[in-house]
Amino acid sequence: MSNLWKTKSIKSLQEEAQDVGGLSKTLGARALISLGVGAIIGAGLFSLTGITAAENAGPAVILSFIFAAIGCAFAGLCYAEFASMIPVAGSAYTYSYATMGEFVAWVIGWDLVLEYALASAAVSASWSQYVAKLFSQFGIAIPKEFLYGPWEGGLVNLPAVFIVCILSLLLIKGIRESALMNNILVVLKVSVVVLFIVLGWNFINHANHVPFIPTNEGEEMLKSGDIGLLDFFRSDFYGRYGWSGVLRGAGVLFFAFIGFDAVSTAAQEAKNPQRNMPIGIIGSLIICTILYVLFSYVLTGLENYTVFKDDASPVATAFAKTGYTFINSSMTLAIVAGYTTVILVMLMGQSRVFYSMSTDGLLPKFFSELHPKNKTPWKTNLVFLVFVSILAGFVPISELGHMVSIGTLFAFTLVCLGVIVMRKTHPDMKRSFKTPLVPLVPMLGIIICVLLMAGLPLKSWERLGIWLAIGLIVYFLYGKNHSKLNNDKK
Ligand code: ALA
Repeated sequence: MSNLWKTKSIKSLQEEAQDVGGLSKTLGARALISLGVGAIIGAGLFSLTGITAAENAGPAVILSFIFAAIGCAFAGLCYAEFASMIPVAGSAYTYSYATMGEFVAWVIGWDLVLEYALASAAVSASWSQYVAKLFSQFGIAIPKEFLYGPWEGGLVNLPAVFIVCILSLLLIKGIRESALMNNILVVLKVSVVVLFIVLGWNFINHANHVPFIPTNEGEEMLKSGDIGLLDFFRSDFYGRYGWSGVLRGAGVLFFAFIGFDAVSTAAQEAKNPQRNMPIGIIGSLIICTILYVLFSYVLTGLENYTVFKDDASPVATAFAKTGYTFINSSMTLAIVAGYTTVILVMLMGQSRVFYSMSTDGLLPKFFSELHPKNKTPWKTNLVFLVFVSILAGFVPISELGHMVSIGTLFAFTLVCLGVIVMRKTHPDMKRSFKTPLVPLVPMLGIIICVLLMAGLPLKSWERLGIWLAIGLIVYFLYGKNHSKLNNDKK
């Protein structure tokens, strides 16, 4: 049993990081920030901002973004310390291996499938809706059967399957090419967000920002003593406007920030990772937070928040107020491009986590075999090409979305915990980036992540449990017996 808690030595991890015979080191600070921004801005901003304003927070969706960003920043600071200390592929998985032992590492690695693979599936499914919109602007209609899976009245979400296949093949081709394409698409995507903010600014009607936090009737009843706290939590009022709405909104919009941690999965491919990893993680988070806050301010200023109910493309709706509608097609195109980079980075993150788990012997060797020429874990890419295609083609986006959030928040929580553990177990180790105010910052990270998890439906918790249970079976049947760490001569 003691083997379960055995940790991988930092020295061996750092040796792995130096191993130039493996993945090629091509990514600098700018490329890493670009990778982060590429993974972050996507369906969360372009679809969820409007819906969250309409259903949960009103114009205070701005506060929801800030609250979610603070949670991510705490976790991001912890990620950055780890990434600068242990710059190897595998992200949270690797960090837990060094701090909390093999068993926790396995749980995290397995859990990260929920983040990376499911998020790429969810965004692909949403991508296809925007592609359909773009096509319709040119008079081409994609039949409903080929836009939705069987649970949503169609047969298969074909564009989603298509984009997953294309991007997986691109990843197989190699990181250099993928990073270049990512850079181009990120510039395009950020330009559109900036354009929306700049052009929309003059058309803001400040009356739309009042009331900033719409009244929550339940909160009023709570204050006057008409209902108890427990009744309020159980009621439909909870999360519908007011401060509880701001909180619920933060939980939903957390999805919009997912991705910055994907930067850390590319640590082994980074030049001078000690310096560049923290810059990549924190830099991309700061840029996105600023853009999100300004974007949501303009969005809720152009139109009344109630208008965005059930509107998957609030950008177009709000932008109609400006009169610059001729840009709409370009906007849709850029949004499509923006989604592409999110899917790309998520798919990359997924393959890198499995790559690391496989080099440690916890998964079959197959997953870490590199392409002889391209030096990419191409077999893992192929496995996830199939797995993610099936999810994207057949499973509804909403079902995928909650699982992504709960899985990611769980991983963030363990990374924050890991920093505290690491400071105790390896106090003297060189950290070129140090999380400030330990243990306060990691503790706050844990508290916010757990709070956001608590806001998610019970069904998501159950599914998380089932997925982790499957993971345990795989671990005890395979991983534990093949683990290199456990089978090393002592
Ligand atoms: N943050 C990513 C998005 O918004 C997952 O699409």
